[in-house]
Amino acid sequence: MGQALGTAQGSDHAAVPALPARGKAGPRKDGMAILGEVLSAAIATGFLVWGLKITLSYMDPYREQRREAKRQSQFLRQRLGRNIELNEFEMLLASQVLNPRCIDVSLDDIGGLEQVKEDMRLKVLRPLSEPDTFCTTLWRPVKGVLFYGPPGTGKTMLAKALAAESRCFFINVTASAIMSKWYGDANRFIRAIFTLAAKLEPAVIFIDEVDAFLTKRGAQSEHEATLQAKTEFMQLWDGMEGARGARVLVMGATNRPWMVDEAVLRRFALQYEIGLPTKAERTAILRRYLLRHQTDMAALRQAGAQLAEDEGGVDMDLLLNTPAVGSAAGSPGALDVVAAATEGYSGSDLMELASQAAQNVLVEHWSSHDSSSSDRSKLRQLSAADLLRAAKDVQPSVSKAQEYNQGLHGSASFDAGGNSNGAAGLAGMAQLMAALAASATSSRQGAVASRNGSRKSGAAATAATTTTTTGDVEDVEVGTPVPADVDRDEARRDEMYKFIGKMVMGSMGGAAF
Ligand SMILES: Nc1ncnc2c1ncn2[C@@H]1O[C@H](COP(=O)(O)OP(=O)(O)OP(=O)(O)O)[C@@H](O)[C@H]1O
Ligand SMILES: [Mg+2]
Repeated sequence: MGQALGTAQGSDHAAVPALPARGKAGPRKDGMAILGEVLSAAIATGFLVWGLKITLSYMDPYREQRREAKRQSQFLRQRLGRNIELNEFEMLLASQVLNPRCIDVSLDDIGGLEQVKEDMRLKVLRPLSEPDTFCTTLWRPVKGVLFYGPPGTGKTMLAKALAAESRCFFINVTASAIMSKWYGDANRFIRAIFTLAAKLEPAVIFIDEVDAFLTKRGAQSEHEATLQAKTEFMQLWDGMEGARGARVLVMGATNRPWMVDEAVLRRFALQYEIGLPTKAERTAILRRYLLRHQTDMAALRQAGAQLAEDEGGVDMDLLLNTPAVGSAAGSPGALDVVAAATEGYSGSDLMELASQAAQNVLVEHWSSHDSSSSDRSKLRQLSAADLLRAAKDVQPSVSKAQEYNQGLHGSASFDAGGNSNGAAGLAGMAQLMAALAASATSSRQGAVASRNGSRKSGAAATAATTTTTTGDVEDVEVGTPVPADVDRDEARRDEMYKFIGKMVMGSMGGAAF
């Protein structure tokens, strides 16, 4: 039995090895198959996810911005030497941030606008650099500065120069970025502007073409989302009073100020009209560009260009503003003559004119000399005559705007810039004056400073400026209109007291009444 059992066991045993072997091979094979299936499913899912990610990233409207933002935020981290955490929208905005070290414009590069530059140094730059002084209720830094005036007069240039000089990060906000078609995002973008500025402070939030974003509210066609975005912007702007954001300044520029919402105008505590340059300012702007041309020519020579010492540069008559060679003693300087002939030209027009004149010299040289021949004549210098010739081709753009406006609206000529064809033709200027007057009377300070001396109240200024046809730049300050029946001397005295009050308060940090 035991034998039989043993045999049976033995025979069973003999058969057993095959069974377990079969039994074990089965699950292993299944296991391998399952593993294979899992692996292939994982790979397929991986490909699917990757494909989806690629597709979605191509569909992402902010794809390029995101990439740039990533680079910029890395740069910001390095630049600041600290790790600032940026959220998704701040990252998108990071690509719009200019490092003050990379802004190649300084206040000295701006020709003219001396009064505005001086004011900016005292009322904006100083408070930004001395936060410990400007921390009381009345001594506090200015929160909003607006530059308005005709196109090409240097408003954007001025804002950039201020950011560079104050060593503030410059957050360049464009209306198109905020009011993107992804309406739901507008508010988040706006919040990000202020939170990013607070993280980067001292910082300047610059809104170019303010009128495109902060337009008058309440138009019938206005979308709800746009309205909310504007309200949110103003609320956040008001909320910057605390410890965070204390050194954040909102700066705006526009050439259509009458389109800007009154509540927004009121928040710009300092408002400067950047009008067309006066004759002296045109001289200063032209001289700056001519000097720069001299410097560039010297750099070209140093870089190995085959040019003689004075070749291709600028005639000394022009640089020193001496009377042109051959002209009678006591006659006006060469640059003076050009400045007199370019009334109504903006800074941008003058740059274009100087550039055109310099290029004409080069073109003339190329067309009259065979550069391949050994007899290579000297490239002549730029003279006053070249500038005057170029003035025939480069027309002042503002006079074109004037013609257009007069044709379109039949508006009377207006002389906010002080030149006979100054900011003339800026249609709706009366509306602007009314809006600014409203903002001035209701604001802490609605001072509208301009380039020089005399000051007028809103109504008087409007009346005067619409009829002015001569001379230099008028200083327009919009304040309480002077009633016609009040004794003029008394009104003038009143204005003077207000003016002195503003000057005193202004020198204490920009606040006034
Ligand atoms: N006062 C100035 N001094 C030197 N250059 C000037 C001056 N004003 C304008 N320019 C030149 O004109 C260019 C355009 O100026 P800017 O963009 O600042 O004008 P803007 O007032 O902002 O015009 P817009 O209202 O059309 O935006 C500047 O880059 C600069 O080269
Ligand atoms: Mg501009």
